[in-house]
Amino acid sequence: MTHHIAVLISGSGTNLQAIIDATESGELPDTRVSVVVSNHKDAYGLERAKAHGIPTIYHPFQPYRRAGRSRNEYDADLAEKMSHYPVDLVVLAGWMHIFTMDFIRHYSGRILNIHPALPDTFPGTHAIERAYEAFQRGEIDHTGVMVHRVPDEGVDVGPVVMQRTVPIYSTDTLEDLEARVHATEHALYVQAIAAELGLAPARRDET
Ligand code: GAR
Repeated sequence: MTHHIAVLISGSGTNLQAIIDATESGELPDTRVSVVVSNHKDAYGLERAKAHGIPTIYHPFQPYRRAGRSRNEYDADLAEKMSHYPVDLVVLAGWMHIFTMDFIRHYSGRILNIHPALPDTFPGTHAIERAYEAFQRGEIDHTGVMVHRVPDEGVDVGPVVMQRTVPIYSTDTLEDLEARVHATEHALYVQAIAAELGLAPARRDET
């Protein structure tokens, strides 16, 4: 049986790349990315998908906003477009759009999101930068990464599937911390997807 994943991106798509690589290396056996969705035309992740022969959907919100149409309508239309592809699991990987239930109800219990911070810390954008600044102020001594389910319209909250701490060192530049967090994300997301699809033990060495 082949497992089908839809990956939704808004930007660079390094997490998407880690997932594609894992499907090709066998780390995610019998799994393929059936479609990649972007809400930004210039998202580099679209090029990554095309390079691997993966179908893409470009679904921008601006035309809806200009026409006075709602996020609900945008979400319902995206669900319709995605319904033409087999999807067992929806994986949000840097997807910067908050879904309404008009999308979520089509994939109830089957949507994962990754966030570059620990639960209940730094929701929204620039999470790594904000963690770095909090470290400089002496407020935290580590950060982390979490993968969680998306049951509703909450931003970067939901039942946690996996999390891993990421140390911050006093010698770190912001770029050092970003690189460490992203490397952690790439490994953790593949592991969480494997667990979600029943392909691997739920826990390995995460803290
Ligand atoms: C990742 O760090 C992801 O965790 C973050 O966007 C980045 C996308 O990078 N998501 C959020 O901040 C969600 N609030 P990528 O396009 O290279 O995978």
